[in-house]
Amino acid sequence: MSSYDSLLEEIKSRIDIVDLISQYVNLKRAGQNFKALCPFHSEKTPSFVVSPAKQIFHCFGCGEGGDIFTFLIKHEGLTYREAVKELASRAGVELKGFKGEAGRDEKALLLKLNRDALTFFQESLMKDQRARGYLEERGIGRDAQRMFSIGFAPASWDALRSYLEGRGYRTELLIKAGFIAKGTKGYYDVFRNRLIFPIYSLRGDVVAFGGRALDDSMPKYLNSPETVLFNKGRVLYGLNLARDSIRRTGYALLMEGYIDVIISHLYGFTNAVAPLGTAITEDHGRLIKRFTDRVVLVFDGDQAGIMAAKRATSLLLLAGVDVRLLCLPEGDDPDSFLRRDGADAFRDLLERPLSIVDFLMRYGKDRLTIARDAIEMLSKIPDALIQGSYIKMLSERLGINEFFIIEELKKVRGRVRRGEAAEGPVDSHGKRPLDEIYIIRLLLQMPERVADVFETISPEDFSDDLLRSIFNRMRRGVPDPDRLLLECHEEEKRVLSEVMLMDDFEEPDKVLRDCLNRMVIKRQRAMLEDLQSQIREAEQKGDSDRLLRLLQLKQEAILKGRRA
Ligand code: CTP
Ligand code: MN
Repeated sequence: MSSYDSLLEEIKSRIDIVDLISQYVNLKRAGQNFKALCPFHSEKTPSFVVSPAKQIFHCFGCGEGGDIFTFLIKHEGLTYREAVKELASRAGVELKGFKGEAGRDEKALLLKLNRDALTFFQESLMKDQRARGYLEERGIGRDAQRMFSIGFAPASWDALRSYLEGRGYRTELLIKAGFIAKGTKGYYDVFRNRLIFPIYSLRGDVVAFGGRALDDSMPKYLNSPETVLFNKGRVLYGLNLARDSIRRTGYALLMEGYIDVIISHLYGFTNAVAPLGTAITEDHGRLIKRFTDRVVLVFDGDQAGIMAAKRATSLLLLAGVDVRLLCLPEGDDPDSFLRRDGADAFRDLLERPLSIVDFLMRYGKDRLTIARDAIEMLSKIPDALIQGSYIKMLSERLGINEFFIIEELKKVRGRVRRGEAAEGPVDSHGKRPLDEIYIIRLLLQMPERVADVFETISPEDFSDDLLRSIFNRMRRGVPDPDRLLLECHEEEKRVLSEVMLMDDFEEPDKVLRDCLNRMVIKRQRAMLEDLQSQIREAEQKGDSDRLLRLLQLKQEAILKGRRA
């Protein structure tokens, strides 16, 4: 434990959360806990709970939650550092030589580690004719490789590990950074036989890596886990290179994949960026908003693509970014489109992207559904002038008087204010997958089962980012809840405080078995779907060797699934 951590523990041990919060909120006893009207959102019945036993608070209405530090940060609008200072002085704990956040040393170390790892990956690419050949074949030549600092992880179980350990990095740090993992026969390199795409922060630091398999191994893409440096929902691939171009052209071109971004840049569309294999978040919107308030969202015209585009659009609108949409021919991504049809054809498409109203009209069922979908979306737009222009457009296109649209919009807005909306931060915690929540809760109850759990599922099986990173923190054993809470980011604390307040399970073993089973089935299903789409691709390309191999893989996957 660092001296800083023990300092935080010292502060926590001296300040009782009930004492602290009752200075701001009128707490009433309710069984073992205390309750109050939540200070973080308006409500008529109390859903704000403080647990003296666990020293946490959580609001079941708005999802806010955490420890004493969280409370001050949220309530007084302090930074983490200020909150620690304030509470230290109240607790009479001296902060000698204290420099900022707990993560600072770790951050610096991880940055250095990532830089060294990148050097290794880039040197390995130079040595590997096949990997370079693959890139060349996909139109990514030497200059592009340099521009995007592309590397390669050789097909070895320990090359990266020995390289990094040779430079003095400790095993624990390599685990934390996601470079190695523990299997039955000891540690092994996670990235093997993969092209490596380093992911840069806006400051130009390498904060994570994406790895694409060179063969048919699964998953096709593998990303670094979340660390103190890296939060998936807040990074966009290519933004470090695209930022000036985004300012200049006045919009960001938002697409799906790493290779799509690279090829787009090579064809002159230097404002292209992509999320890292996750759905677009409101944070992505806020990130883009620092450079422009317009996005052109490139999407795939199939059913899944349309759904994803709708969701992404809502979240971007919420962040105050205006969205237009560009639909590619079915089966295309920007990479395949550009390489086949060229930059001019793409520029043609870019000249007439769909407005959100046209997008909904093109893919919506009937007039009323379209109107309701549109109103739901328009309700997200914070700028009244922009919203107004869409209302007008919707009214004209659908032949519905603006008055009625505005009436409906008012209703939706009222619902949002009362916290009944289908989307938005208010109930977002309620949408986390139950199995994933339960697994965290079960591990708190039965820490001795952690090895079994990690043998059956891995962090990648978690679809919820926050639960996944909490799960990751349990990798080397489950810390006691107090410690775990101290290690967590503020966002993770919101979730963790909720999980901690759940009652113990009466039949934990049975629940655990069921949860694990369902997660395994979910993974197998996803693998099959991924295989299926690769099979479709191989069929389209008439690549019969690959097709045969894939069909065999599919057969094996199905058999394995039956046995499990
Ligand atoms: N992705 C991921 N994990 C996967 C599959 C995809 O994180 N198992 C992310 C990656 O960021 C990827 C993007 O989703 O770039 C798009 O995936 P996909 O369309 O399958 O791949 P492409 O980017 O088109 O890559 P390629 O052209 O090499 O097949
Ligand atoms: Mn592709």
